[in-house]
Amino acid sequence: MQQFDTIALMLKKNRAGYTLPRELYVGEEAYRFDTEVMLRSVWLFAGTVAHAKAPGDWFVFELGNNQVIIVRGRDNQIRAFYNSCRHRGARVCEAASGNSPRLICPYHAWTYGLDGKLLAARNMPDGFDKADHGLVPVALENVGGLLFVCLADNPPPFGRAKQDIAEQIAIYNLDKLKVAVQDDLIEPANWKLVMENNRECYHCDQNHPELLKSLSTYGFGKGLPEDGADDVVDDAAFDAMLAAQRQHWMDLGIFHELVEFPEENGQTGFHRVARLPLANGAVSQTLDGKSASRMAIWPHGLDEQSSLSVWTQPNSWHHFCNDHVVTFSLTPLGPDKTLLRTSWLVHEDAVEGVDYDPAHLTAVWRATNAQDSYLSAVNHRGITSDGYRQGPYSVEEKLVDAFKTFYVDASARALG
Ligand code: FES
Ligand code: FE
Repeated sequence: MQQFDTIALMLKKNRAGYTLPRELYVGEEAYRFDTEVMLRSVWLFAGTVAHAKAPGDWFVFELGNNQVIIVRGRDNQIRAFYNSCRHRGARVCEAASGNSPRLICPYHAWTYGLDGKLLAARNMPDGFDKADHGLVPVALENVGGLLFVCLADNPPPFGRAKQDIAEQIAIYNLDKLKVAVQDDLIEPANWKLVMENNRECYHCDQNHPELLKSLSTYGFGKGLPEDGADDVVDDAAFDAMLAAQRQHWMDLGIFHELVEFPEENGQTGFHRVARLPLANGAVSQTLDGKSASRMAIWPHGLDEQSSLSVWTQPNSWHHFCNDHVVTFSLTPLGPDKTLLRTSWLVHEDAVEGVDYDPAHLTAVWRATNAQDSYLSAVNHRGITSDGYRQGPYSVEEKLVDAFKTFYVDASARALG
């Protein structure tokens, strides 16, 4: 890895509890390292089963110079392949998503099945074997409906995250959901800053009035202004509230201990899973706390006042409500350019304009994403300054440190 000498040097300057050296946040070499080495060595969230709902549905996930086609086969299996034709290498799928019975290369019409096998190639010489020229597969894991891909030749084991996540999100039936709205937001900041921003709510008070409304003070929230009952209470009352919540969740059979980026085989944790109470009076993460869709997506109806959240390293987070799911995937497009893809999922039978209003469904996270995009951009621009020094994390930024540590460890491993 001769060409990444600066990166190796900068990784050595990592300090526990402090931000990374400047060169790892800004600059061309870090971007190349991240997209060509680090992010190719780990599992990345690419989309959900709802993004490839019917046989023949496909969408493209992009990382640096690599595009991956994620496609549902006739057997309902979802598979992933490099988007590069085995003839002379053209991109087989040029759009961002689509549905087709076969994947046909636009150049000379080599034709692939949804399972990646080469089905047709005209006028090839004797001895040419179609079986040797299928699309190159990419590792894919379907974790309870969340799809993760890994571009490494030997992907790391998925480990306990698979069960921890799948077990808790199973009740939300991702197979029965559809994508109601998808937003692609390009943020003018390095992807690691967008991730760090997601991992703390130290900035929420000053910046996220919409997000805080439906969240309980347990966690990060402020409560709905109407109810007043969620205002900060004394410790004893707070503990009593938590104990009651816990018992209620046990009664429903949805209680699980917090999963907090558990270390595995000496490696930094990959996932966090937490059920959080919503604000008093709120049943969904919306501006008014009311349901975003009239159709419940889980077995416990529309009145439950909690939501489940899943965070994974290094590129995703997800919120599961009674009536909808929001998923976020993040990919770098340049040293200071990041694609944040937000998808809102509702019940497959919910009808737009009847059961849900897209504006109501998306209002909280559209506002929050715009605010976070601004904050990440401000962060990025400040780091380019010669006055930048590695700065200390607050006690509210432990999960930022967890992300940074995952990044540093995975980078060091990938560099060998
Ligand atoms: Fe795809 Fe020729 S490059 S058919
Ligand atoms: Fe934020």
